[in-house]
This record gives sequence, structure tokens and C-alpha cells, in this order.
Amino acid sequence: MRFGAGLRHVCLEYLAVCEGDLVAAMTPKTSGISVEPITAAHIDSFHRALDLVAREKKYLSMLEATPLLQTRAFVTGMIAKGNPQFVAVIGEEVVGWCDISRHFFPSHAHRGKLGMGILPTYRGQALGRKLISRESSKRASS
Ligand SMILES: CC(C)(COP(=O)(O)OP(=O)(O)OC[C@H]1O[C@@H](n2cnc3c(N)ncnc32)[C@H](O)[C@@H]1OP(=O)(O)O)[C@@H](O)C(=O)NCCC(=O)NCCS
Repeated sequence: MRFGAGLRHVCLEYLAVCEGDLVAAMTPKTSGISVEPITAAHIDSFHRALDLVAREKKYLSMLEATPLLQTRAFVTGMIAKGNPQFVAVIGEEVVGWCDISRHFFPSHAHRGKLGMGILPTYRGQALGRKLISRESSKRASS
């Protein structure tokens, strides 16, 4: 079976998590990554990225991704509500994300909860800063 370039990146990420820094050091870095608003087409890949960061069991409240259907409902809900959610992608594979869930009560709707994560290989190279600055400009314009 032949894999696309994006899927190969994600496979390498799984290896990096399993085998540590050696594989991580061998994988490509941030060139060719674009930051864009999430769409329905990103959901499967976003789900894989979320699962990978969650399974590190260090950073997120969840210890694995929510089931795909639930993740799909979350993302489509974010899009429907106009909540900012950006993804960093290589090809069609998500390698990072940043979102803000607006507070439920209308009187607090100017506030929200930030969620973000980046696959291990791509951390520490200003991608998080790039994602969050796209979030800020979206918030400022809405
Ligand atoms: C946290 C995370 C999103 C940051 O993204 P990144 O691309 O690695 O960060 P950047 O390279 O853009 O760094 C931006 C700034 O954040 C700081 N930073 C990065 N990771 C940090 C961390 N875990 N704790 C505190 N500061 C951190 C950097 O030092 C840098 O500060 P500086 O500009 O003053 O030097 C990313 O490392 C990640 O996904 N970590 C695992 C998941 C996680 O912790 N998610 C957040 C919980 S919701």
C-alpha cells in the first residue's frame, strides 16, 4: 500500500512518540506547513493528531481522543458557532491545532477556553505562536 506524504508524517509521529527523540530528530520540521481555518475535510486528520497528543498523557485533560463521531460533532459545532479553530497542516495532514470555545452564557460569550496541541516533532519552532496569532486576528475581526 502507498501512503501520501501527509500520512507518512503522522506515521513518523507515532514512531516518535513510541521510540523517543531519535526518530523525532530525523523527521522533517516546519517547512511546508500552512495554518488555515479548520474545515470538515480536516476532521479525520485532526482526530488523529488530537489522539496522538492526548495519548502522551502529559498535556491534555483527555487521555485519548474522543470518539471520531464526537470529535466530528465538536468541530462542526465550532464551525457553526463561528468559534475560531485553526489547524497547521502538511499536505492534508493536521500536525497542530488551536481553538477557542466560546463560553456558553451570552453574558460571558466574550470569553472562552483555549485548546491547542502540536505533534511532538513540530514543537518549539514557533508554530504554536503562529497558530495562536491566527486565533487572535480571527477573534479581533468577529
Ligand atoms: C504548548 C504548545 C502548543 C506550544 O507550541 P510550540 O510551537 O511548541 O511553541 P512555540 O515554539 O510557538 O513557542 C512560543 C512560546 O511558548 C513557550 N512555550 C512553548 N511550550 C511551552 C510550554 N509547554 N510551557 C510553557 N511555555 C511554553 C515558548 O518558550 C515560547 O516562548 P518565547 O517566545 O517567550 O520563547 C506545544 O508545545 C504543544 O502542543 N505541547 C503539548 C500539548 C500542550 O501542552 N497543549 C496545551 C494544553 S491545552
